[in-house]
Amino acid sequence: MRVALVTGGTAGIGAATAQALQDAGYRVAATYGSNSDAANRFSKQTGIPVFAWNVADFGACREGVARVEAQTGPVDVLVNNAGITRDAMLHKMSDEQWREVIDINLGGCFNMCRAVIEGMRERRFGRIVSMGSVNGLSGQVGQSNYAATKAALIGFSKSLALESASRNITVNVIAPGYTDTAMVGAVPPDVLATILKTVPVGRLATPAEIARAVVFLASEDAGFITGITLSINGGKYMP
Ligand code: CAA
Repeated sequence: MRVALVTGGTAGIGAATAQALQDAGYRVAATYGSNSDAANRFSKQTGIPVFAWNVADFGACREGVARVEAQTGPVDVLVNNAGITRDAMLHKMSDEQWREVIDINLGGCFNMCRAVIEGMRERRFGRIVSMGSVNGLSGQVGQSNYAATKAALIGFSKSLALESASRNITVNVIAPGYTDTAMVGAVPPDVLATILKTVPVGRLATPAEIARAVVFLASEDAGFITGITLSINGGKYMP
C-alpha cells in the first residue's frame, strides 16, 4: 500500500485531499500546525493519523517525517498543501507578514521535500504535488507575499522535477482558484463578491474538485506528467 503525507491535511483542500487519497487506497497521514481540536475531530472521523509540527522549521520536518514513517512506512506521495495568507497592500505590509508567508508557504515546501527526497530517490519512486494558486500566476491585490511564494513553488518544482525524473519521481504544482475553504471565507465579503464576478464558472471550487486532481497526479498513471502547473480555477485565469 502506497503511503501519502499531506501537510495542512486536516482542513480545507488538505483535508479533502487526505480523504480522497485514502478513498483511492493510500495509507494517509496528515499534518497540521496548531488547531488540535479540528485535527483530532478530523482524525476521529476519517481514521487518518494526524501529526503536529511547524513546516517552517527544518528540523521539525525531518523529525516529523521520521515519526510518520515509523508508523506508516516510507512516504511515497508528498502533498505540500500547508499554507497561510497575511494579506495586505505592500505599502502596509509588515516584515512579519512577509516573512511568515515566505517561511511557511515556500520554506515549508523546501523543508518537507528535503526530508523525503533521499528516500524517494533510493526507492526509485515518488510523487510530489505542491499547492500553488491562481494568484501566483495572475497576481492579486494584497498578496505580494502570498503570490511570490506560489509563483516560487513553480520554479522550485520544475527544478526538482528535472533533478528527479531519472528516479521515477514526479514533481508538479496544482494552482487552484478561489475554493470554498476557511482561507477564502476570511476575505471580506464585498471583496469576495467582486472577485467572484471574475470567475466564468460563477462559483467557488469545492475542495473535493482540487483533491481529485491531486489523486490523479499521485497515481502510477501520471508517471509521464512532471514539472507542470495544473490550473483549476473555473476559467478565472488562463495562463
Ligand atoms: N482587485 C482590484 N482592486 C482591488 C482588489 C481586487 N481584488 N481588492 C482591493 N482592491 C482595491 C480597492 O478597491 C482599493 O482601491 P482604492 O485605493 O482605489 O480605493 C484598494 O485596492 C485598497 O483596498 P481596501 O480598501 O480593501 O484596502 P485594505 O488595506 O483595507 O485591504 C486587502 C486590502 C487586505 C488587500 C483587502 O482588499 C483584501 O483582503 N483583499 C482580498 C485579497 C485576496 O483576494 N486574497 C485571497 C485570499 S484566499 C487565497 O489566497 C486562496 C487562493 O489561493 C486563491
